[in-house]
Amino acid sequence: MSILKKLIIRREAIASRVKELAAEISRDYAGKDPLLVGILKGSFIFLADLVRSLDFPVQVDFVRLRSYGSGTQTTGEVHITKDVEAPIKDRHVLVVEDIVDAGFTLDFLLGHLASYQPASLKICCLIDKRERRQVEVPLDYVGFTIEKGFLVGYGLDSGEKFRTLPDIYEIVESEGGS
Ligand code: IMP
Ligand code: MG
Repeated sequence: MSILKKLIIRREAIASRVKELAAEISRDYAGKDPLLVGILKGSFIFLADLVRSLDFPVQVDFVRLRSYGSGTQTTGEVHITKDVEAPIKDRHVLVVEDIVDAGFTLDFLLGHLASYQPASLKICCLIDKRERRQVEVPLDYVGFTIEKGFLVGYGLDSGEKFRTLPDIYEIVESEGGS
């Protein structure tokens, strides 16, 4: 078995889209002192670029979630292994995620964070992957929409590999190999 990587989104395209998202978020959250909550680990590179393109400084926090399942597919069972540390009651909270697939992860997290009664709760995701969506989650800011495929790079990993690649690739496993 060998793994082929196909370039899907170049670093220049990511950078310009991140700047556009940051401009929108800057407009929408001006004067609101938002808290950006990144989902570990996949969002850390996207979040780092996003916050540095905003017009104002923001507080950041992180959650870490574990979804059970095997290989590249989740079962829908999600657990929190690290919760937010900042008090979020009455704060404007923007969740930053790398990629939305079935939707279970964000659906669970939204319910969890809503229980803390934030002033508002929105989602910014880099990639909306449509094909396997099982729960509709409201995505307020979306970087790129793709239909399917398993992506790596720019924070996205496959079994902890490829996370630090600056561009985004689709990985394709092939028998025999080339
Ligand atoms: P969901 O609950 O199926 O929406 O799962 C989303 C999570 O699965 C993301 O936060 C990623 O950690 C992981 N994931 C889903 N698709 C991909 C992908 O194409 N590449 C890397 N990670 C992925
Ligand atoms: Mg993730």
